[in-house]
Amino acid sequence: MSEISRQEFLKMTASAGAALLLSSLETFAKENNATKLRVAVIGCGSVSNRYIPHLQSSAMIDVVSLCDIKYERAVAQKKQYNVNAETYPNIDALLKGVPFDMMVTLTDMQLHGELNKKALMAGKHVWSEKPMANTYAEGKALLDLAKSKNLRLWGAPAVVNSPQFSFMAKCIQEGKLGRLASAHGQYGHTGPGWSSFFYEKGGGSMPDLGVYNIATLTGLLGPALSIMAMTSIVNPERMIDGKGLVKVEAEDNAHILIDHGKGIISHVMCGFNYFDPHGHEAKAQQLHSIQIFGDKGNLRLIGYDWETNGVYLDDSWDNPATLYEKEPGGYLWQEGATKVGESILSKTESKINVEHALHVLEVMEAARKSSATGTKIKMQSTFKFPIL
Ligand SMILES: NC(=O)c1ccc[n+]([C@@H]2O[C@H](COP(=O)([O-])OP(=O)(O)OC[C@H]3O[C@@H](n4cnc5c(N)ncnc54)[C@H](O)[C@@H]3O)[C@@H](O)[C@H]2O)c1
Repeated sequence: MSEISRQEFLKMTASAGAALLLSSLETFAKENNATKLRVAVIGCGSVSNRYIPHLQSSAMIDVVSLCDIKYERAVAQKKQYNVNAETYPNIDALLKGVPFDMMVTLTDMQLHGELNKKALMAGKHVWSEKPMANTYAEGKALLDLAKSKNLRLWGAPAVVNSPQFSFMAKCIQEGKLGRLASAHGQYGHTGPGWSSFFYEKGGGSMPDLGVYNIATLTGLLGPALSIMAMTSIVNPERMIDGKGLVKVEAEDNAHILIDHGKGIISHVMCGFNYFDPHGHEAKAQQLHSIQIFGDKGNLRLIGYDWETNGVYLDDSWDNPATLYEKEPGGYLWQEGATKVGESILSKTESKINVEHALHVLEVMEAARKSSATGTKIKMQSTFKFPIL
């Protein structure tokens, strides 16, 4: 605890829970001679603009390395965010460079599995942007590898951390919706224009967008037992910055039906051709992107599940629906790596669960298989439920 004093730390977090965390932090520091978790960021593109400042905002984390195959991007981010970090042009140089504890993977989706494996092999914990691997089998092998080396691995998204997710989980558990029946999730915009990997094989609107709704709905209604889906390519070509016209190979439109058991069925639609004037900006978004129905009530989440503007609970024949949890309550969608990094230091368990991320990965793979074969696909994986 050389970097922050007890007083500063308590002031910063101002809660009784913090005192508990502090004592476990002190124990960790004594046992491991560690004061901060050293983090390496690989992939210094668009999303790193959200991750780097968030990681820097934690008193428990030091960003010590930045890496990008477009090396000038690593150098630019170091300068932009004034990071006291070494910069590297590839993962091999990164792993041979200054020591670190956890790698944060923010590269093109298709490379996550390969890069995460290299980091685990080198003894690093890993937080990966979604998806954590290209296939369920690859993801499962990564988790087995992490476990065999006593390392931690996590996959985005962090939606289970939001107060709105907690509120919805509580309503369901308290029976406010009665017998659960159906749910719907949707997330779409007109698609990213800055990188082609979103449209190449292994990309697509499911791992980029649908992944949030699938994580939310399985997180609230339970693991999927089976999947049926239809996916399509609506727009066969895309104009990409600096690259020109590229061929679209991954689905840019997907409808996924999830059987959660006990008769509960949910539906997710996601795509890169959905006009929405709010696009990526969630602040003013009023769309009810998640809706959950039971026979005594329904929940309608406003805005996106990764950054929402509240949840309506409608459970009265006489009174209008009430809006709850209008404020983010400190939650930010880009907080996953920071939160799990802090959980390593404090030896606490994060709400974000890698088995859940792996399950979501299997749902997306099953959806592709279902669409290609016209059949219902049985799921193999599951995760600890309820999450909260
Ligand atoms: N952009 C967003 O708003 C956003 C939000 C949430 C999640 N994500 C996820 O974050 C990931 C990255 O998305 P992005 O929008 O930042 O993409 P991006 O194209 O802007 O950035 C990716 C970066 O990774 C680098 N890279 C590629 N291969 C590499 C390798 N082998 N080693 C090192 N660096 C490599 C690229 O040069 C590029 O700078 C994706 O999984 C995406 O789904 C993005």
